[in-house]
Order: sequence, then C-alpha cells, then structure tokens
Amino acid sequence: MAIELVSLPLPPSADASKFADFGKEVRGVNPGALSEDEFKQIEELLYKHSALLFRDCELTPEQQYALTKAFDPTSENYGHGNNKTEGTKKSILHPDLKTIPRVPQVQLIGNGTVHDHEGLAEAKLKHPSHTTFHKTRVSPADEAAGATRFYRWHIDAALYDLNPPRVTTLYGLVVPQGTPQVCRYDDGTGDVLPVPLGTTAFVSGKTMFDILPPELKSLAVRTRVRYAPHPYVWMSAAHAMPTGLGIESEGLELSYDELPPWKEEAVKTLPVLWKNPVTGALHFQVHPCGAAELIVAPLPAGAKREGALYPDGAHIKDLKTVRELLYKMQRPAIAPALVYPHDWREKDLVVFHNRGVLHSVVGAFAPDQVRAFHQCNLAASDEPAGPSAEDVERWA
Ligand SMILES: [Fe+2]
Repeated sequence: MAIELVSLPLPPSADASKFADFGKEVRGVNPGALSEDEFKQIEELLYKHSALLFRDCELTPEQQYALTKAFDPTSENYGHGNNKTEGTKKSILHPDLKTIPRVPQVQLIGNGTVHDHEGLAEAKLKHPSHTTFHKTRVSPADEAAGATRFYRWHIDAALYDLNPPRVTTLYGLVVPQGTPQVCRYDDGTGDVLPVPLGTTAFVSGKTMFDILPPELKSLAVRTRVRYAPHPYVWMSAAHAMPTGLGIESEGLELSYDELPPWKEEAVKTLPVLWKNPVTGALHFQVHPCGAAELIVAPLPAGAKREGALYPDGAHIKDLKTVRELLYKMQRPAIAPALVYPHDWREKDLVVFHNRGVLHSVVGAFAPDQVRAFHQCNLAASDEPAGPSAEDVERWA
C-alpha cells in the first residue's frame, strides 16, 4: 500500500496559507513496523512537513523507541539523559517524567494515577500547569470557566552537555475528552486561541524566521545563543511570561556557583537558526527559557549597514536584553493564526521535527482526569547545523 498524505485538520483560528507545508497525516503504513524504504520516505516527509500524524496506531514502547532511533541510529540516551545529567531534583522537569522500566528511553507523561502500566505498578502523573510556572496566573474562577494558557514554548532538549534531539515521538494512549478551553495570551494584545482540552500546540520555526522584518532576519542569521549550564536548574526559581514564551527578568535565576557541578566544555552555544537537512530552510530554534547570552557576529563585508542591529557584532550578557530581543523575534510566530493545536485522539502518534518546531503543553486537567502518553526523544549524535555562508550572505 502506498503512503498517502492528508492535510491536518486546521482549526478556524489558523491561517491556512501559513500551513501549506506544515503537518501531514500519514496513511497506508504502520509506523511501528516500517520497511527500510518506507522509513526513508517518512524521514524525508518529516523534514519537509515538520510534524506527521499517524492515527489508530498500535505501538509498543519498543517499537516507539526503534522508530525514534531510526532518525538518528547512533543516538542512545533519552534527550534529557534520564534526568541524570540534571544532577538534582531541583530541575523543573523532574516531576513531569516517569520512565518505562523496560525501555528507559520512553517516558510516560500525562495526568492522574495510572495503574499497572508497562511494568509500573502505579504512576502518579501531573499535567504541567501554567499556575506553577508563570509569574501571574489565570484566576481560579476564570480557569473554572475554561480559560487557560500555553505552559511553556520549547524545544525538547537538555541544552547542556547533550545535543538537541532530531525528533520527538508522542503517542496518546489515554486521552480524556472534555470541554474545549480558551488559551489566553494575557500580554496586553487581547490574543486568545480556542483549544481542545489538553492540546499540544505547535508552531513552525521556519515561519518564525520567514515572517521577521529584514533587520531581525539579519540579526537572527548572525546570532548564536549561549545557554546557561544546567538551564532547568538555573531557572528553577524563576517565573515565565504569560505567553509561556520565556522567563520574566526578576533576577531569580540561580547564580552559576549555586548550580550542580558544571564544565565549560559542556555548555551549549547554538545558532539561532537551524538548517533543515532536507529542504535547506532556516528554522528559528531557540528555547527562550534557557537562553543566557547572545553572541552576534558582525555584518559580512559589503552588507548594508543602514538600519542593521549590532552591525559590528556584540556579546550580549544582560539577561533582560537577551530575553527582550528573543521575545521580539519569537512572539510574532505564536500568534493565534500560526498555532496548530493538535486535537488528540487515542492511538494518535505524532512525530515532530524537534529541530524545526517549537511546542507547548496547554491547558489544565482535574486531578481525576487520566491522561497517559508515551514520549520518546534521543539526545542527538550531532549538533544542529546553522546557516551556511550563503545564508548569511543572503539574509545579513
Ligand atoms: Fe516537549
């Protein structure tokens, strides 16, 4: 049976013209048992379309791990190193993950209490909520009426020592049905996005770059981000913006000498733009929460200086400035019309290009609403490629 592609069901909020290449449902193959030739096709489709949906899948943790690993055969460890590299329970990721004992690269995530699940006698899961992460929160009364927020826009990545995974696979096993919610941005714009309960929201990193004005494209193509050592520990006492797109600058980050032991060689400095290995497109891939410094290269010889930002280059260490610049470049791409909120059904498998999209958990469940997903990503065998010399020439 040939592979068949179907457009993803876009919500009325989405600007369809911005999703022409983004996201496809794949029919006609079993993602748990792909032939070598089928995998090659799927791999290429993923890099072209950023997110692939397979419906009604039967997928064991072993099959999910094998599928994820096929995108990067020499990778071994879970993308966050099974929390060991975090070195401490202080990490803000710690409570969200439960490892499947048989296949430790696959994590059980969700909400409520799950019994006798893949070797776990009992797992107490908690859907992450903005109420414990954002500086401000939706009032309990508004929350009861269905208002919510994006939890945290991110790339799945340790951002320290390990390389950002190429792909993440998310498989929905138990998906509670409930009333749709309204995701509020609460940033003074009035933006809101109606969302299915417990959606995973995706935006395209390619679109994030494409819609920038020329002076910000020039800045993006010349800039690298230095992430904090152990970023999830570093930010553990800090609070996020109401859009979930980065951290408020309140001086609450730990100082570097309060962190678990770290070494300079393991600190990650990554380009703002990551080059798609199949299409060559540039994707704006920054995890705004972990960013600590920006290193801007000077304009190349012959580039137009008029209107250019940091024409002679810069090493920006002021955290507030770093965050403001990133927010200015990233916020346009999370506008309601540019978000794909996936409406989960049981046995949905979503495979996404973790080096080409940003995503966020959304919404809130009652404690008794059980949700169980399997998630897998693997710390990559290489660092993402940045813009080529021709890209810099073109956009700087
Ligand atoms: Fe994630």
